[in-house]
Amino acid sequence: MKPLLVLLLAQLCSASLVPEREKDPEYWRRQAQETLRNALRLQRLNQNVAKNLILFLGDGMGVSTVTAARILKGQLQHGQGEESLLEMDKFPFVALAKVSPRGAHGDTTPTTRSRAGGIFEPKLGQGRAKGAGKAVGIVTTTRVTHATPSAAYAHSANRDWYSDGEMPPDALEGGCKDIARQLVENIPDIEVILGGGRKYMYPKNVSDVEYPQEEKHRGTRLDHRNLVQAWQDAKPRGKVAEYVWHRRGLLALNLSRVDFLLGLFEPGDMVYELDRNNETDPSLSEMVSVAIRMLQKNPRGFFLLVEGGRIDHGHHEGKAKQALHEAVELDRAIGLATRLTSTQDTLSVVTADHSHVFTFGGYTPRGNPIFGEPSTWTANPSPSILYGNGPGYKIVAVRARENVSAVDFAHADYQAQSAVPLRQETHGGEDVAVFARGPMAHLLHGVHEQNYIPHAMAYAACIGSNRGHCNAAARPATPLLLPFLSLLLLLLLC
Ligand SMILES: *[C@@H]1O[C@H](CO)[C@@H](O)[C@H](O)[C@H]1NC(C)=O
Ligand SMILES: *[C@@H]1O[C@H](CO)[C@@H](O)[C@H](O)[C@H]1NC(C)=O
Ligand SMILES: *[C@@H]1O[C@H](CO)[C@@H](O)[C@H](O)[C@H]1NC(C)=O
Ligand SMILES: *[C@@H]1O[C@H](CO)[C@@H](O)[C@H](O)[C@H]1NC(C)=O
Ligand SMILES: [Zn+2]
Repeated sequence: MKPLLVLLLAQLCSASLVPEREKDPEYWRRQAQETLRNALRLQRLNQNVAKNLILFLGDGMGVSTVTAARILKGQLQHGQGEESLLEMDKFPFVALAKVSPRGAHGDTTPTTRSRAGGIFEPKLGQGRAKGAGKAVGIVTTTRVTHATPSAAYAHSANRDWYSDGEMPPDALEGGCKDIARQLVENIPDIEVILGGGRKYMYPKNVSDVEYPQEEKHRGTRLDHRNLVQAWQDAKPRGKVAEYVWHRRGLLALNLSRVDFLLGLFEPGDMVYELDRNNETDPSLSEMVSVAIRMLQKNPRGFFLLVEGGRIDHGHHEGKAKQALHEAVELDRAIGLATRLTSTQDTLSVVTADHSHVFTFGGYTPRGNPIFGEPSTWTANPSPSILYGNGPGYKIVAVRARENVSAVDFAHADYQAQSAVPLRQETHGGEDVAVFARGPMAHLLHGVHEQNYIPHAMAYAACIGSNRGHCNAAARPATPLLLPFLSLLLLLLLC
């Protein structure tokens, strides 16, 4: 341990690593005083009715991912990193939600998905009753038929039944509907749907509009239906329903004349933010900006679900760089939403469904590039980012890890070393953070069960049974959003 201690001391004392201003004790005193003044202001609680609800879900965005994303964001802005603040860090209330460690990626346990009601459950929505209520939107970086977004509208015994082409014959014969079809048929009046997943909407073997040569991107539907057309046809006469598949098409829309918007920008999941083609694919924050401006047209408010869905995928592949850039992009979307809405009438909640066995450390010095220089206190350097398990496992001899000296571990697709070999890295079991801002955000303040979150959000918006605090001026509950309560329960289960 001795060389380590010496090294640590050397690092702590190494004045050059610490920004000049931080060497002045007055800097820290002033900062603490300002934080204290902000905290005292929170005694005046925001008890308004939340007209709008926004739920940002970072799939797999555990606390270690949030911290690493903060450092990355700061370093992308040419800071040392540690001192920077994420947009979610600026939310005044933070809680922890307990997480069920159950359910590895790819679990397709029947009944899990079919048990809880979708947030936009049609029966409770009384069909067109939604016209009297809030506008709703779904934005995701995965295919829109993927687990989290589909929880909002579909009931499926298997999360992989994206189209009937993925379903076994007996399920089809038994009358089960694929998820894409439910997206179009269950709730024809979701105002905004943006993400990936084009191929599940088109007949088998139909070429993709963006990748006409690529067989793997062709349509998958066995029922020969064109669901994009069906989506458009299902809209009431006189309403404008726009479908876009290209970033330019999305950004060129005159939103004041669009009533319904469907954007599917990739055949499957959207491309990782780091690899994104900025001509053809919108970023998550661009999609969120369009969604909010669309939904804000509804005078009764809106509910928007934003999923940073590929943080999870990056981690499963052991590709920390991909995962963290996804998390930073989700944070940009949060910042943008914050600027487009007001704390007076919009409750924003940021959370994750679960963590990952992702960690970083190793006594790297202050300002160390998050993907960069490994600690040098061991003979074989160890990059600071590691996974508990996953595809990056590399033991080259008894008791010897791969020598990373010659490895480009700053590469976008570098798979960080892991302790246990697994084809896919797994979810983590510890609590996840919940950040809240806006009306009744203070209800999210301690260590809670995950399913408490939608209860708090529903209370804030005067939806459901807890409405004693809603004054006469408050709008009536929107029946469509009642089953919103079950969303996080469902996320917990999958
Ligand atoms: C799709 O194309 C493949 C090969 O290109 C062919 O074998 C198959 O029969 C086609 N399926 C349909 C439904 O057209
Ligand atoms: C957008 O559409 C509205 C309503 O049709 C119209 O008044 C407005 O001029 C349009 N804006 C642009 C930039 O075309
Ligand atoms: C789009 O990507 C290209 C190539 O990576 C880059 O040179 C360009 O600056 C990007 N444009 C925008 C608007 O981000
Ligand atoms: C790792 O490789 C570097 C050069 O690539 C070498 O200098 C170093 O001694 C190696 N370390 C071990 C523990 O093999
Ligand atoms: Zn996962």
